Amino acid sequence: DYAADPLRPQYHYTPYQGWINDPNGVIKWKGRHHLFAQYYPGAPKWGPMHWTHADSPDAVHWQQRPVALTPPPPSTPGDQSGIFSGSAVDDDGTLTVAYTRFTDTAANPGATPETVEMATSTNGSDFTPVSGNPVIPQPPPGSDAGFRDPKVFKDPLDDKWKMAVGSGHEGRGKVHLYASDDLRDWSYTGVLAEGESAETGAMWECPDLFRLGDKWVLLYSTNEGGQSLQRYAVGDYDGTTFDADRHGVLDGGGDTYAAQSYQDDDGRRLMVAWMSDWSAKEPTRVNGWAGAQSIHRELFLTDEGKLGQRPVAEVAELATGDPVTTGPRTVTEPWKLGSARTARLRTELDIGASTADTFALRLHSSSAEGTELRYEKSTGTLTLDTTDAGYGTARTWSTTARPDKHGILRLDILLDRSSVEVFAGDGAALTARVHPRYEESQDIVFTTTGGDLRLRSTSRTPLGSSWT
Ligand code: FRU
Repeated sequence: DYAADPLRPQYHYTPYQGWINDPNGVIKWKGRHHLFAQYYPGAPKWGPMHWTHADSPDAVHWQQRPVALTPPPPSTPGDQSGIFSGSAVDDDGTLTVAYTRFTDTAANPGATPETVEMATSTNGSDFTPVSGNPVIPQPPPGSDAGFRDPKVFKDPLDDKWKMAVGSGHEGRGKVHLYASDDLRDWSYTGVLAEGESAETGAMWECPDLFRLGDKWVLLYSTNEGGQSLQRYAVGDYDGTTFDADRHGVLDGGGDTYAAQSYQDDDGRRLMVAWMSDWSAKEPTRVNGWAGAQSIHRELFLTDEGKLGQRPVAEVAELATGDPVTTGPRTVTEPWKLGSARTARLRTELDIGASTADTFALRLHSSSAEGTELRYEKSTGTLTLDTTDAGYGTARTWSTTARPDKHGILRLDILLDRSSVEVFAGDGAALTARVHPRYEESQDIVFTTTGGDLRLRSTSRTPLGSSWT
């Protein structure tokens, strides 16, 4: 019962039981959005990977579908072999997925640990492996740190199928590129992109290359120093190699990883990420499940050439009531906007007119605990402080968020029972899972120190469940 579980997000994808990580195979296919994910049904921890599956008419209301891909039977107890991450494309009406077939070499000595396999479906639910599996039986040379997470796309430059695969070599991440005319026979094109140093990670997982405006974007995910980071590069692509102008971290928060994107019928570039981190404590394990996906987001390039994100417009359809709004207000002492565990908050802060340098919005809060979103005017730093948020989390996360030219900072905040996603008007975002200990921790309170905070407006909209 999703409603009875105090830590169960109501409008984010979570597994009914067991574990999920990366979103896989995201696509708009025959009028519906499809979301697959790395899944282990047996326990709320990583194990032999399956692909779970849900679909949606609007990218915010989901319907569970049968498990799409299941791992081979274990060769010995403890064999972790399974179906790793991958992607989906439409091949003339056939839903076609490419994924990493992982073979646990501890249980299967001498096997090639990671190969690329494919499967097809005509009804969008039942998948049959293609007869030519594995379509890529060996990694290319120079892949000493993994070879996985194929992302297939139709290349508009030469109209061929292309596949980006994550890897690493001598302490630097890299992405390999393959090409195909028929989605079965793949020829190695070469190295699509490569980190210049260990600073951008030793292995690039879950690569995703796509055109955005007149630029190309490469998403890649890295694990360094106990932190999983969703990184990106913006640059140019000529059909074989990608040349980065800049690299960045997509989300300043701690829980955005393995993002995967797709283009919908309106030409929007939509993205969903695993809303967790490989070192997360996952306090929901006590309730038999772990892992959640982010809200679907729309990607765009900012005026500064960074990759920005905002929640998909369809989030409005999750509303279960009218927004409660307030007009201009000067906050000099704590001001409680309301109480909610599941809501959308939008506010326009008049940064220019406020006299305080630091102000905050407390979320999921009570006298016992709370998450604090702080803004420091002098530096433009937006901080999400989860050190006192409840179970499992104990860190502060920061990004830079600039007010617009009129001095207004717009924030769009999605609160769910165990997550906070903050989107600033300039495209910056902070995402974190939080796990309040008490159900009373629902207060939403503005506070200020050493001056006043001018609010132009606020609105709070109740949001309902994704499950129809
Ligand atoms: C990323 C990742 C992928 C891999 C999958 C396994 O989070 O490590 O590289 O395919 O998870 O579940």
